[in-house]
Parts: sequence; C-alpha cells; structure tokens
Amino acid sequence: MCGIVGYVGNGKTAKDVVKILKKLEYRGYDSAGITNLKGGELETYKAVGNISNLEKKLPDGKVFNCAIAHTRWATHGEPNEINAHPHASKNGDWVLVHNGIIENYKELKKGLKNALKSETDTCVVAELLEEEEIRDIQGFIKVFQNVQGSYAIVAENKFKENELFLARRKSPLYITMNDAGEILVASDPICFVGFAKKYYIFKDMEFADAKLGEIIFYNEKGEKISKEEQLLGAEFSDAEKQEYPHFMIKEIMEQPEALKRQIKMFRDSCVLDKFTKEFFEKFNKVEFIGCGTAYNASLIGARYIESLLGVQARAQMASEFIYNEPVFADEKSLFIFVSQSGETADTLRAFEIAKEHGATCIALTNVLYSSLAKMADYVIPVCAGPEIAVASTKAYVCQLSALYMLSCSLRNKIYNENIDYFGDIKRVADNILNFSFDKLDNLADNIKTKMDAVFIGKDLDYVTAGEASLKLKEVAYINSSSYPSGELKHGYLALVEKGTPLIVLANRKRINQKTFNSASEAESRGAEEIILTNDDTEKFSGKTVFHFSEENELLLPMLTIAPLQYIAYRTSVLKGINPDQPRNLAKSVTVE
Ligand code: M6R
Repeated sequence: MCGIVGYVGNGKTAKDVVKILKKLEYRGYDSAGITNLKGGELETYKAVGNISNLEKKLPDGKVFNCAIAHTRWATHGEPNEINAHPHASKNGDWVLVHNGIIENYKELKKGLKNALKSETDTCVVAELLEEEEIRDIQGFIKVFQNVQGSYAIVAENKFKENELFLARRKSPLYITMNDAGEILVASDPICFVGFAKKYYIFKDMEFADAKLGEIIFYNEKGEKISKEEQLLGAEFSDAEKQEYPHFMIKEIMEQPEALKRQIKMFRDSCVLDKFTKEFFEKFNKVEFIGCGTAYNASLIGARYIESLLGVQARAQMASEFIYNEPVFADEKSLFIFVSQSGETADTLRAFEIAKEHGATCIALTNVLYSSLAKMADYVIPVCAGPEIAVASTKAYVCQLSALYMLSCSLRNKIYNENIDYFGDIKRVADNILNFSFDKLDNLADNIKTKMDAVFIGKDLDYVTAGEASLKLKEVAYINSSSYPSGELKHGYLALVEKGTPLIVLANRKRINQKTFNSASEAESRGAEEIILTNDDTEKFSGKTVFHFSEENELLLPMLTIAPLQYIAYRTSVLKGINPDQPRNLAKSVTVE
C-alpha cells in the first residue's frame, strides 16, 4: 500500500516524475503528492483521488532535480490534501514520503515539542528528524532505532540539496542509478523500465544516502555495506494497457499466454525437479497460507495435494494463522506461501512464524524479487507477468496451474505414474477463453441492477464460488456471497427473493446432483439461476447454462473462473466503476 518515488538528477519535468509514480497507482489511489527541494525551499503539490488529479495541478515545463512523490492508501487519517504525502516537519527542515505504518507513533508523538501538521503517523518521523536536528545519514539511522512498525521512507533535508535519505523495514524499496549518475528510488522496480537496466533491493533495516552519481548503503549500526546488483528482467516490460481500456480485461485476456509461459518455465528450468519423493516424504502435512485470492488458490492447492497425494493438507488465511494458538508448525510441516506480490504483510508475518517453528517454507509467487521470494527456502515462480489491476485474475489461474503441476509431478515421482501435466495445462490454456462473451455481457447487464448475488458449489466448486464472489464484490460493489450448496437451506435462503442471481457451480459429477437440488430450492423461491457445469446440459432447458467439456475435474477451477472474472469486469464497467482501481482497495497490502 502506498507507492513512493524519489528522484535526484539533471532534471525531469514534474509531470515526468509523476508519470513514473503512475506505475505505482495499483498500490493506492486515495491521494497523491510531490515535493521538490531547491535552494532550501520546498515546492509541493497535492491532490485527493488518483494521480491524474495531481497531474492536472502541475505547471507545464516545471523542472525538478530533487523530488519525492507518493500515491497513498490511507491508514491513519482520512484521504484529504493535509494527510497526503509528502509530509514536512514544522520548519520544513525535513520532508518525506512513507509506505507502511509507524506503530509507536503515539508514543513518539508524546515526546515531540511541536504539534504535527497532519493526522498521519508519518508526520511524526519528519518532526523527530527536525527536533533532533539531524543533518546526516548517521543521525538519520539513529532516529530509526526508536521507530517501530513498517516503513519504506524517502526523505529530503533542506540543508542537503540533491540528496535522498532512505530507510526500509518490512515495506519494499528499490533504488537504481543510470549511466548519467541520476538516482531513482521506488516501491517497485517497474518504475525503472526505460531509466536503468540494473537496480538494488533494500533488505530490512538497511539505509542509504543517495546523491547524483553515488549511492552508499548502510546497515542499522551505521556501517557501510555493499549490495549485489539485480538485473531488470524482460518481465517488467509488459506493464502497459496496450489497446485495452483497462488492465483487468487485458489480464483476463492474457490468461492463455500466461499459462503457456508457466508451462515453459516449469519445463525449461526444471523448477519441479528439486521436489523429489525423498524431499516430500520428510513431511507429514502441507500447510498453505495466503490472503484474498491467494487464499482461494491455497484452498485449491490443498485439495490437489490431498486428492493426488493422499497427504493431509489445509489452507489458512495468513491474518488468522498469525494469531493461532497453539501454532501447528514444526520440522515435519511443509508450508507453501501463495502470494501474487510476495509483499503482503500478513503473509510475510505468517512466514516468520512458520519459520520460527522450524517449518520448511516454499514461496509460490509472481514476483521473484519480492520479500517473500527472498526469504523462502524454495521458490516456485508464478509466470503471470505483471498484474496491475487490483483484482487478481491471471495470477490466480497461474497459481492454480503451478499448484496442479507441482502436485502431479510429486504423484508421478511417488507412485511411478506418468500424468502429462504439461499437456493438461496446455488444454486449459487453449480453452480458458472459450466462452460466449455476448452471453456474459447480457448477464452482466442484468446483474448490474442487483444489490446482491450468491454463488454456490461443493468441494472445488465452492472455492471457485468464493473467488468469483470476491471478484464481484471488489470491482462491481455487489454484496455477493459464496455458500457451500448444501448450506443454503441452513440460513441463506432467507435472503433469496425474486430475481436474486444464483450462480451455480457444479463440476464434480459425483456430487453435482446435490448442488442442483439446493439450486432448485432457491429457484423455487425466486432466484435466477446461472449454471456452470460439466454435467449433461439437456436437463436445464430454458436456463442459462455454460457447459465445460474438460474431463479432468481437477482442471475445472481454472476454466470455470474465467467467465466469472469477465462477468465481474463487465458489471463493473456497466456500473461506471473503474475496475482497475476499486474504492478503498489497493493491490499490494503491505500493512498488517
Ligand atoms: O499479493 P497477494 O497475492 O499476497 O495479495 C493477496 C490479496 O490481497 C489479493 O489476492 C486480493 O484479495 C485481490 N485484490 C483479490 O482480487
């Protein structure tokens, strides 16, 4: 949450700096701001709402040499201009942008002489730096000995022109220098595309002092450290909307290509080879951890492990696992952390706990330079490519494909079988967008008028129901629920009335009839059914049905979610919502 950019160089227009910030808009869009420091004077522009509002305020041709910029997802204080970053200290000695939460800001505030200029936790740090008369990097590092919580901070000091002071703890921060010695700092290396080809990753409790032509890194003791350069890979290049009106639809349409990339990566890099029979036999259970969509992928992953390997597996939400007592994790537990961004704070905290208890930890993530990937014992790459829309679509499907291939590859090794899992995922890639867009457009046109909707299913279908319901809530603001079909009669039926959309997922032939029975109980009370099934469709004449002919039922969660992602997208657009930036949300949730 929150995106930050810092620039020191030969000069960029304010609009060009903000254009870089725009690449981080997925991290929050409640307000945005930029400050340039020149001749000891701060020049600041702020606007509420997304970055285009800030762009409108910037004078044409204005050149900045030492700027910090921020796009905000509010945690403390409402999203207004006062609370928008950058935040300056009382006399403007220090100004900074921050991503994260200063957890002890109330205690720190008590020790300050001056009143703060905003309600944010961030302001406390700017004021501390000023009141302690900090002028250099050593003093800057010392101040952070008393600051608790999570932070990626880029700060400027009015007496040190063309210099950035940087700190990181539990929030992502990256820095690069181009051939001209110009410095760019950002919350995501996607900002470096077109600027430099290499970059550095800040680890927890690392600091830096960056000037034109020079970056010096420090540890928390204030000692200089050297850091390894990272190559800015080709995977950063397609983070543009191209001809699509929104990232969400672009990302839905990219699913076939992303799945093929996933196969290629697993095949060419032999990613699964290290997960041998001997490796897996060391564990007596598999625990999946994730949040939101990644939690839903975890639920499917657990079912794959159980049904293909007969080993106990379960999925837990990271935010719940953190507070479990007792914690069921030890040397015999294999933990798989699923996260698109690899930066979700709850997931990272859960990781630390599992590790403290001796578990072996795998990161299954789309972002190989993320904190999660860097901490894990093993990494399973998800090859969705950059996912910018807040609602996760292609990353989810790629996570499922990776989990399916992992489980099948282990089954082949343990039971001497020969499941052609590459062929299976190739079939998914070929068929995933094989649905009638017109029919879905009509459904979205009807759903847009509804206050609520319910998705039902059993087993894997129940997970898909949850994921589809999450999409509709997130981007179309419809109060949708997901229910195991057999539970409808235990309560939800009270909410069903004439016209309630009832999306029925029935793709487990062994148990489909039970779901149809539940659907019929709701239909008798006025619900309007939309059926997604691998069952014989003749029995549904006159109803809205989508048929799936794929015979391997374990693949159906990947195929059935795609039309439901599309319905959510269309409903959002028809309601005049920007599906890429739903209200109150952010893509990367880097606070607990
Ligand atoms: O980056 P992560 O996969 O760890 O993110 C987890 C959730 O915040 C994320 O899946 C969220 O639920 C999405 N907006 C869902 O579309």
